[in-house]
Amino acid sequence: MKIRESTEQERKEILNIHKQAFGEDKGPVIAKLVDDLLNDETAMPILSLVAVENNKLIGHILYTKAVVTQTEILIAAQILAPLAILPGEQKKGIGEKLINEGLRLLKASETELVFVLGHPTYYPRCGFIPAGEQGFEAPYPIPPEHAEAWMIQELNGDVLENNSGKIQCSKVLNEPQHWRE
Ligand SMILES: CC(C)(COP(=O)(O)OP(=O)(O)OC[C@H]1O[C@@H](n2cnc3c(N)ncnc32)[C@H](O)[C@@H]1OP(=O)(O)O)[C@@H](O)C(=O)NCCC(=O)NCCS
Repeated sequence: MKIRESTEQERKEILNIHKQAFGEDKGPVIAKLVDDLLNDETAMPILSLVAVENNKLIGHILYTKAVVTQTEILIAAQILAPLAILPGEQKKGIGEKLINEGLRLLKASETELVFVLGHPTYYPRCGFIPAGEQGFEAPYPIPPEHAEAWMIQELNGDVLENNSGKIQCSKVLNEPQHWRE
């Protein structure tokens, strides 16, 4: 299995991974989100990685630009969303490998903070910790019972300890329905 950046020609195959992984109800919505994010100028810089086996795409992850507002310094930040592995390929560690390869590349390109809204038992394996208690607010309020799902990770610098603020995501991701679960 190989992980590399995706190409424009692979867009349809990538959208299909999301459709299948997220199922009948959510699949088309998430696939549209990915398609729109790949066209969204305000999401740049973007990192789009695919997991490939025998020339077939089996997983995809997207990291898009985030801005930490209310800080005196400009912080280089990204949001991880979404991540999907083809149903027949799940639970083989591919998701974790895609996350970690993304984090490695972002660290090398001097990204300081990465955010994710996701399963609070899954992402901490890759170094994420709850973001709310660090003073970083999501673009839309996260209900208290799901507070642990909004997470952060510092890759570079010393910005976590001395800063706080509200996160502004790309235009396409900045819709309330993407922040409900
Ligand atoms: C969630 C997902 C990306 C994980 O990818 P993966 O390659 O299957 O995950 P890994 O093999 O790296 O890790 C598997 C572990 O994640 C856990 N996991 C998978 N889905 C989970 C979920 N919805 N909630 C909590 N844990 C989950 C598994 O229980 C497994 O735990 P174990 O190692 O203790 O058995 C994949 O299952 C998927 O595409 N799901 C559908 C789409 C989705 O929910 N995307 C994530 C949005 S936050």
